[in-house]
Amino acid sequence: MTISPPTGCPVNHTDFTPAKPALSYWKLLDDLREEAPIMWNDAHGVGFWMVQRHDQVLEVMQQPKLFSNDVIQAINPREDAIYFLPNMLNAPEHNDMRRLLNRWFSPAAVRKAEPLMVERANSLIDELIGEGRHEMMTGFAMRYPTDLLLQILGMPVEDGPQMVQWVEAIFGGAFGGEGGHAAVDKIKAYFAPAFEERRKNPGDPETDFLTYLLQTPMGDSLLSDEDLLTVCMTMMTAGLDTTRSALGYIFRDLALNDDHRTYVIENTDRLPDVVEEFVRLHNLIMQPGREVTEDVDFHGVHMKKGDVVWIGIAQACRDPREFADPTTFDPDRDNLGKHLGWGAGGHRCIGMHLARHEIVVALREWHKRIPDYRVVDPDGLMERGVQLSLQSMELEWDRR
Ligand code: HEM
Repeated sequence: MTISPPTGCPVNHTDFTPAKPALSYWKLLDDLREEAPIMWNDAHGVGFWMVQRHDQVLEVMQQPKLFSNDVIQAINPREDAIYFLPNMLNAPEHNDMRRLLNRWFSPAAVRKAEPLMVERANSLIDELIGEGRHEMMTGFAMRYPTDLLLQILGMPVEDGPQMVQWVEAIFGGAFGGEGGHAAVDKIKAYFAPAFEERRKNPGDPETDFLTYLLQTPMGDSLLSDEDLLTVCMTMMTAGLDTTRSALGYIFRDLALNDDHRTYVIENTDRLPDVVEEFVRLHNLIMQPGREVTEDVDFHGVHMKKGDVVWIGIAQACRDPREFADPTTFDPDRDNLGKHLGWGAGGHRCIGMHLARHEIVVALREWHKRIPDYRVVDPDGLMERGVQLSLQSMELEWDRR
């Protein structure tokens, strides 16, 4: 494996794995972006280039031939990294798999799931509203997207708590490690009998995801058994923790800022942009990676074939060169559509329409019933490193 020496650009020694007080990492990343557009990090074994400004991050994501998805995380990029699909495919296979999957996650498909979202949000709120107090990160924020994704994939909603534990283990192992791989195996073993069942008794491929995956060719051939299971494991891993973490940071912000909460309550038609602005402001995908495929001079930095690049989505989303007053919440900013919080190019988030709409419905239904609430210990909140998430957050409200 090649490891480039830092050719004249600043070297940074930050370890991005430990837990820190909430919102520390964004402050740190803002400072690093302003220190230099590109720097070399040597704190994680295999060093990597950190590309940090909006225009350069976009450039990397739009050049998949030069920056490949053989690597998708800057920290622990190869040794025992978990294999995800479609994330780790490159063109042309990647295009084929996205064509196969996109339909299932399109805006039209997501609109059809709206009644389910309303029902799940309200039945979870029914359970907790009388308590006047709720641990958000293991409660509503985790259970709501888990229940929804299981139902959308045609699996029993009762399996949510078990699925949550496995997904937690994958993130706990930072996308690798013995515990992470064991959890991957368990998620695959969970889906295997469901595929067997669909082989014997196919559902309607228009409405049943597993039957659709079994029957629909990618290019010229059907997916292998292993790929079927990897796709389902990926959807669970990529779809649950992200939405949960986004909900956590959003509810924290709304609890602490009455003006933001009032905006949400009074402007329900603006909720899609509220969510977009939060995805920009609080982007939790901290260390997405790429692999350099040939020696290149990138904005004055000599990168070698095989080097790893951290595409600084979180830094880019708060780059003052692109966004005025970037650390302020402003859902009315006119260039909101330019944020990179869902990624860009061919690998842009497949679940973005689903996640956005899930969060819109959660905010709308929650605030109808619990419009006023507080964080119990705002100064004690901690966030996880690697992929950002609040570790826990207790909310409280007055019982009526
Ligand atoms: C707030 C929630 C979410 C955020 C902020 C988010 C963010 C992202 C980002 C930034 C990427 C691009 C990463 C890169 O280029 O390396 C991505 C890719 C991806 N996301 Fe999401 N995501 C969210 C929710 C979801 C959901 C709900 C699902 C699935 C149900 C999902 C599935 C995926 C998959 C499969 C990819 C890889 C796409 C590809 O490589 O073609 N995500 N996401």
